[in-house]
This record gives sequence, C-alpha cells and structure tokens, in this order.
Amino acid sequence: MKVSVKVPATTANLGPGFDCLGLALPLYNEITVEEQVMPGSGIEINIIDDNETFDTLSIPKDENNIVYKAIELLYNFVGQSVSDIKITIKTNIPVTRGLGSSASVIVGGLVAANELLGKPADKAVILSIASEVEGHPDNVAPAIFGGFCISSMENDGSVSYSKIPWPSDWKLNVIIPDYELDTKIARSVLPVNISIKDAAFNIRKCAMLVDAVYRQDSESMKKCLKDKLHQPYREQLIKGFKELNEFLENKDDILGCVISGAGPTILIISKDDGFEKVQNDVKTILSDLNVNCDIRTFNIENEGTKVI
Ligand code: HSE
Repeated sequence: MKVSVKVPATTANLGPGFDCLGLALPLYNEITVEEQVMPGSGIEINIIDDNETFDTLSIPKDENNIVYKAIELLYNFVGQSVSDIKITIKTNIPVTRGLGSSASVIVGGLVAANELLGKPADKAVILSIASEVEGHPDNVAPAIFGGFCISSMENDGSVSYSKIPWPSDWKLNVIIPDYELDTKIARSVLPVNISIKDAAFNIRKCAMLVDAVYRQDSESMKKCLKDKLHQPYREQLIKGFKELNEFLENKDDILGCVISGAGPTILIISKDDGFEKVQNDVKTILSDLNVNCDIRTFNIENEGTKVI
C-alpha cells in the first residue's frame, strides 16, 4: 500500500509575527510513502525535482533525512518502529528560499505515514511532531490547515493554532531570487537579546496585524507589516529588500513588504491589482541591483494538506 499527499508552500512571519504567523500559497510538493514489499529492504528515499531547482544529491537519503525522522517520531508515538519504508518527494516548492519547503515535506511525510498506519494520530499530533522536527510551528500550521494561521508551541511540545479568514482581495506577491539562504544562517545573525522597546514595537504590530486581518482592514494592515526582531538583522543578507521597502512605502494598495520566512524570498502584500501598478518599477530596482528572480502573484491557499 502507498499513500500520496500534496502540501502547500507557506510564507512565515509576515513581518512582526516571528515564529508565530504564517499563510499557505498554492504551490505544492507531493510526498508518497509506502511500505517496502521485501522485508529487510530498509529505507529508500527518492527526490524528483523536474525543475532542477536544487542539488538533490545534498539531501540525506538515510535515517538523517528530516522526513524519515518525522515519520519515525510518529511510529514511536503509536508504539511501533519503522523498518522498510520508501519515501518519494516530488518537489515544486523552491528550496532554501523561505517558502516552507522543509515544513511541506515534513508534514507530507507525516500525513502520508499516518494514513498508512490507519490514522492513529489526529491533526494536533501531526502539528506537534512536525513543529518539533521543524523547530517552530509558523510554516507547519498553514501547511497542514491552509489559510492564515497563528500558532504557538507550548512548553510540553503541544501546539495551539488558530486560522483566521484572509481577505480575498489581498494578494501575495513573491519575489523568489535565484540564490539560496539557509535558515540556520538567517537565524544565526539574530541577536540573543533585544530591547524592551523593540519587543513592545513587535507586540503591538503583531496584535494589530491579527486584528486588521480579522476586520479585513487594509488601512490598518498598512501600519502592521513592520518588524524590529529579525528583519533589521537579516536585510543585509537579502538583496533589494531595503530598496524595495523604501520604494513601496506609501504606495496605494501596497499593504507591505516583508521577508518571507527566513528569506531570501520577499513577500509584497497588495490589495486588488496594487502590485501590477508598481511591478515594472520593482523589476527595474531589482535588475539594477543584479538580482535575478522569479516574481509570482498568488491568492491564499485555503485547503492545506490533501491526500491525493
Ligand atoms: N520563523 C522562521 C524564521 C521561519 O524566521 O527563522 C523560517 O523557517
């Protein structure tokens, strides 16, 4: 028996919601998990990357693979051990770009393996195991549930989350550069301590952001996509981020410009066709800085992970 699932890409943080806010984008990885017919076959991990977006050889194909590790935790949770298993990952989500590719494959492996086991784990368990493997829940929650999610990992490892409807006329424009940025590096530049002033700034922006989404208030949202916890430290790693922010400040129907997850993708949230009006200038700014990129506009993905 084998099970395949498709899991959306995600963009995390949305500026002030570091490790807590995220939303899903309609771009999918497909993960298939099957028990090997021959006992003793061990682990087999295959990566299919039709777009040749990354070096598939660098991905561990043994028990160090993150999808395998997640599946192993699930089997342990139900009191079983994994032995002969084949995992196939068909990637469409660009890797190491801040679009939740690792959360997507972790969630995909867990949901597929859970189906194979006869669904012993509910979504809360999948959310908790996936967040443990990923290290934070902000990509994992929208990858599972779709939409715009707030999530919080508790001390006991459980994860609380809430999904709030996203306004249908708020578009998600992503600037995906042709270079990679490892999340570990993007986290290593963050300070260990921050000032109470910066913490208070983020708390009020994040709280008002959630309220702006809830009330579908574009004018309020324009004031919320700001951050002092991670973006000021990461912007040196993300070509064009500072310049685009300066250019887009106070443009009609542009709600904000933030780093997608740990970067290097940049997320510009617009209302209606707001992005179309500035797209040519955005391209010029990036090309003047020698940034090669793919620019795509999405509506939010609301379904989350699906068994196919
Ligand atoms: N919240 C995470 C970060 C997302 O900003 O590092 C990347 O996985």
